Amino acid sequence: MTDRVALAFSGGLDTTVCVPLLEEEYGYDEVIGVTVDVGQPAAEFAEAEATAEALELDHHVVDARAAFAEQCLDAVQANATYQGYPLGTALARPVIAAEILAVAEDEDCDAVAHGCTGKGNDQLRFEAVWRTSDLEVIAPVRELGLTREWEIDYAAERDLPVEGGDEGTWSIDTNLWSRSVEGGDLEHPEHVPGTEIYAWTDDPDGDTETVEIGFEAGTPVSLDGETLAPVALIETLNELAGSYGVGRSDLMEDRMLGLKVRENYEHPAATTLLAAHEGLEGLVLTQEERQFKTHVDQQWAQKAYEGLLDAPLVDALEAFLAATNERVTGTVTIRFEGGQARVVGRESEYATYSASAASFDTAAVGDIEQADATGVAKYHGFQSRLANGAGVAADDTADDQTLAADGGGGVTTEDDGTTDTTEE
Ligand code: ARG
Repeated sequence: MTDRVALAFSGGLDTTVCVPLLEEEYGYDEVIGVTVDVGQPAAEFAEAEATAEALELDHHVVDARAAFAEQCLDAVQANATYQGYPLGTALARPVIAAEILAVAEDEDCDAVAHGCTGKGNDQLRFEAVWRTSDLEVIAPVRELGLTREWEIDYAAERDLPVEGGDEGTWSIDTNLWSRSVEGGDLEHPEHVPGTEIYAWTDDPDGDTETVEIGFEAGTPVSLDGETLAPVALIETLNELAGSYGVGRSDLMEDRMLGLKVRENYEHPAATTLLAAHEGLEGLVLTQEERQFKTHVDQQWAQKAYEGLLDAPLVDALEAFLAATNERVTGTVTIRFEGGQARVVGRESEYATYSASAASFDTAAVGDIEQADATGVAKYHGFQSRLANGAGVAADDTADDQTLAADGGGGVTTEDDGTTDTTEE
């Protein structure tokens, strides 16, 4: 019987050196390379194909863009960012892992492998999916303690097809939702990068453009009145918003293992759709829904970062997200301006808003007069006044300051300062 392993394969240095290592160090007879399309640039597939061919690798390419794009739009319902990062890599990894597992099972593999190091988040996200199966999980780079330098030497020795220069100065991960750039000179947090790190965004040049994003139940569905499928919507906005310099971030990110890393990201579509969604929520949701939802959103984003969206907690969070997003239907006007996607208008049939009630031009709201707010205003800050020793403006000729005005049980402060609980 042949022992087979399915490898998450990109054609980059890490996964290329994994191929001979899986055979020689781990004793597999056959390695199957799986590249999953979550919206990487065409050049990455060309590299993967060429490398696979040179390695005589059985290479599978799986198109998961539609499923991934839907996952990204679900994240919009949770306004999901982690420390300012819209989670592109994090959301993609479980999708990729599931596709690789499916190929591994179809091809009767005994194991699945990835080329992640022992320092990052992706090893955890891949393995959380893979360890739901009985297949063996192999992480050669981590298990053999490989460094980049060792890999470069090994590849040269074996004449492996890696174009050293192609990998460049930085480590870059690109998919539909975000492009991340790390490593090299960016490892110095004080280093100010030049524009050469950007591929999706231009420097803002003072031009502006206004677009309308349509939402149905919290999901963005249209651009300027035209219904677009998730992949097309995201791709179109990456291009358009990116041309106005929207969606750049430079963050110190706390990884799951505790390491901090300096990350630069580009995410024009994500920034636009997240801003629009939050703008529409502002019109539709009640104050208490909005406030509570910030906690739910943050928890959802945390689990997404961890690659653990299958956690039972997430089902519960998603029930809340679905309930609150039910009314998030309408249109948001966004202006690309100065590198920002700014909400400049919003409308919904579910608005929790009354123009006449809020207007400065009307004296009353139905039978509620302005003067009705006087009582509320008198009580507002009551406890703070007491706590700050301002006391209560009461009749100071009275013997008792009775705070319980209902005549029922209450607390009475006696002249001598002692406290007496009165009974009914
Ligand atoms: N820090 C991000 C994450 O963990 C992105 C990492 C992307 N990897 C890269 N080689 N640039 O989700």
